[in-house]
Amino acid sequence: MTDQPDIPPEEALRALTWLTEMGADEAVGDEPVNQFEVNETARAEDLQPEPAEAAPPQHPPISPAPAAARALTSPDDAVSDARKLAQSCQSLEEIVAALDRFDGCPLKRTATNLCFADGNPAARVLVIGEAPGRDEDRLGKPFVGRSGQLLDKMLAAIGLSRNDPDPQKAVYITNVIYWRPPGNRKPTEAETLMCMPFVNRTIELMAPQFIVCAGATPTQRLLGRTEGILRLRGRWFTLQRADRETPLLATLHPAYLLRQPAQKRLAWRDLLDLKTKLLQAGAGNS
Ligand code: URA
Repeated sequence: MTDQPDIPPEEALRALTWLTEMGADEAVGDEPVNQFEVNETARAEDLQPEPAEAAPPQHPPISPAPAAARALTSPDDAVSDARKLAQSCQSLEEIVAALDRFDGCPLKRTATNLCFADGNPAARVLVIGEAPGRDEDRLGKPFVGRSGQLLDKMLAAIGLSRNDPDPQKAVYITNVIYWRPPGNRKPTEAETLMCMPFVNRTIELMAPQFIVCAGATPTQRLLGRTEGILRLRGRWFTLQRADRETPLLATLHPAYLLRQPAQKRLAWRDLLDLKTKLLQAGAGNS
């Protein structure tokens, strides 16, 4: 360990807060580190037999990055592997296990955790976003950062919550991408195509009464449309998957609303529309 200058804790906290606000999302040392090599080494260590008196593992994350550092398959093979794996899943838990085994998506190499879903899987409403950000990557759950907090408030305004045990008042939340794109860049079409079989299987297994797509990416990818979100939002579409049709509402992404608060009135209209549809459909009437 190198000698550290003596910084009062409040000052260190202020500096850390400033760095985070400026966009820093990783602590790095004085020397550059090739994280791919670190992951390869960690993976090789993973494959060693356990020492006789190994210390018990401490709270392993759902999907540590080293598991992702295997050879990558071509995008076409990755999609076909994803389809086979997803179709074999008979429960949401099996989807999580399949995603842990699936090495086709290059985003897994740089992500910290798999970020699959959060909320009540028996909910009437499934909310689908784009991709995990820094906070989601750290915690392995979708929509837990600033946009997630806004999403929670928006849903609460119409009586819905990811934490409600009552399926009538609950939501289940997922994304069309399960690993954080580096630097929060927009996921590529290939990356979305690799995750899509798992998204489709999630919809089939969960069988929600309504789907809400937050933002352009999930709306365009699920519906195969190309219009921008300002044209798509506020409209109900029918999503056909397997032998089931599900009403799908496109709305604005909460991250966009944080940047453009004046547009919250449009999102509010969409939410009221969802509430009306939920009331019309009635409890348990799927
Ligand atoms: N934005 C998303 O689309 N999904 C998340 O999980 C977080 C932010």
